[in-house]
Amino acid sequence: MSKQDDSREGSDANASPFATDLATIRERARQHIEKGAITDSYTADREVVIRLLNEALATELVCVLRYKRHYFMASGLMADSIKAEFLEHAREEEEHGDMLAERIVQLGGEPDFNPDILSKRAHAEYVEGTDLRDMVKEDLVAERIAIDSYRQIINYIGDKDTTTKRILESILAQEEEHADELSDMLDGWTGS
Ligand SMILES: [Fe+2]
Ligand SMILES: [Fe+2]
Repeated sequence: MSKQDDSREGSDANASPFATDLATIRERARQHIEKGAITDSYTADREVVIRLLNEALATELVCVLRYKRHYFMASGLMADSIKAEFLEHAREEEEHGDMLAERIVQLGGEPDFNPDILSKRAHAEYVEGTDLRDMVKEDLVAERIAIDSYRQIINYIGDKDTTTKRILESILAQEEEHADELSDMLDGWTGS
């Protein structure tokens, strides 16, 4: 920005309240540049948001493992079509985990992939299931847990961190799709 441009913005500042804010925004943007994407207008409790995102990350990673287990163990008359769903869900949960990990880094935190604590931190459980129907039921239970916990986190964050909120809302929408698909499978169940 040239000096000339600055003075032009300065004169606009007298005419419009937002332009006055613009000068302040520019000044603040130069302070604490080590914070990257986090600026002074970020009003959420960053530490809490990072902790909640790490809990969601653990939940997604446990879901990846559970769906993978179910994919490889599925057998029976209906196994082929359901195996494909398990695998697709596993991949989508992994993508969710990546989105969460990326946001944690943007917020200045560290995504925790430590396998020793994943299952303790995760909201959903790793349940192997006894047969194909039981696997589908346990996956539906896990999706319903994920749906409730995402909704709670979204409500907590509110409009204080709209980027995180938007990411969580997009993941929540996909968990609802997963739950709906699993529920349809159970409704029309005819296999063993
Ligand atoms: Fe997910
Ligand atoms: Fe899911």
